[in-house]
Amino acid sequence: MCVPCHTSHIPKKSSNPLWHPKLKNTSYTLYSSTTMKAVVSQPSPESKICLSCHDGTTALNSFGGKPGSERIKAAARIGTDLSKDHPISFRYDSNLAKQDRGLYDPSVKTVPALGGKTITKAMLIHDNMECSSCHDVHGGRATAKTAGNLLLINNDGSALCLTCHNK
Ligand code: HEC
Ligand code: HEC
Ligand code: HEC
Ligand code: HEC
Repeated sequence: MCVPCHTSHIPKKSSNPLWHPKLKNTSYTLYSSTTMKAVVSQPSPESKICLSCHDGTTALNSFGGKPGSERIKAAARIGTDLSKDHPISFRYDSNLAKQDRGLYDPSVKTVPALGGKTITKAMLIHDNMECSSCHDVHGGRATAKTAGNLLLINNDGSALCLTCHNK
């Protein structure tokens, strides 16, 4: 249940919490736009653990060094072209909020739906925006039940989006 994303013994030094180190070096097409201020890079380990199954390049049942054949179903298959998806794997800090006036300062703005912690503490990993900034795979961080898609915050009335975007 846990090993696709974490492993209890890391052979080489990698970032915590004990991320599974055996991630392929897939190259992704990144989101870009003329208005975005953030500098987006290739997905970091924290999002690659998700993409390892959700980009559809690896079979879900490839365990113990044996190749599998069962690939993730179309609706949940994001593919390797991330240019049509919300940007991930970039630093979201006070500095970015100063450049893009439509963003809240993540070190100051608190999130009532997540126990009143700041965006940085409740939603970012090492100050970075990742898949888990919007999704809660354990179901442990979300304080309210959300309607499907493992969302961290219920998106009725765009509440999830408006947590960070000051529109
Ligand atoms: C689909 C990938 C995935 C699976 C499967 C998974 N985790 Fe995690 N884990 C994450 C992510 C992403 C984070 C960081 C964000 C968060 O806490 O949601 C994390 C953080 C953690 C942390 C540190 C933060 C905390 O909540 O204390 C612990 C401990 C942890 N996971 C334990 C587990 C255990 C035990 C299992 C199996 C029952 C498990 N995880 C299964 C992705 C996963
Ligand atoms: C070991 C493979 C694997 C990994 C790793 C993985 N997923 Fe999934 N995920 C699945 C499968 C399988 C489904 C079910 C797909 C379906 O319904 O066809 C799924 C479904 C989902 C869904 C849809 C849930 C719903 O309500 O329909 C979301 C959102 C999701 N995953 C997010 C993540 C995130 C975020 C991570 C990384 C923290 C992650 N996944 C890592 C295999 C994985
Ligand atoms: C900015 C917030 C946000 C980020 C970041 C994000 N997602 Fe999502 N995701 C959503 C929302 C909201 C939905 C609900 C469906 C929709 O509105 O597109 C969703 C839906 C999904 C689904 C279900 C699709 C379906 O139709 O079954 C999967 C799987 C998923 N996300 C995986 C990921 C993965 C993997 C990443 C990182 C590469 C990621 N998400 C990053 C907000 C986000
Ligand atoms: C955890 C915080 C967070 C959440 C939640 C979030 N975003 Fe974002 N989003 C950002 C940041 C930070 C940027 C980068 C903005 C920049 O650099 O100018 C961004 C970028 C974007 C962009 C690209 C802007 C551009 O100039 O190209 C769009 C569009 C967007 N978000 C829409 C959404 C939508 C829709 C949702 C809800 C489904 C959502 N966001 C949820 C933080 C968030």
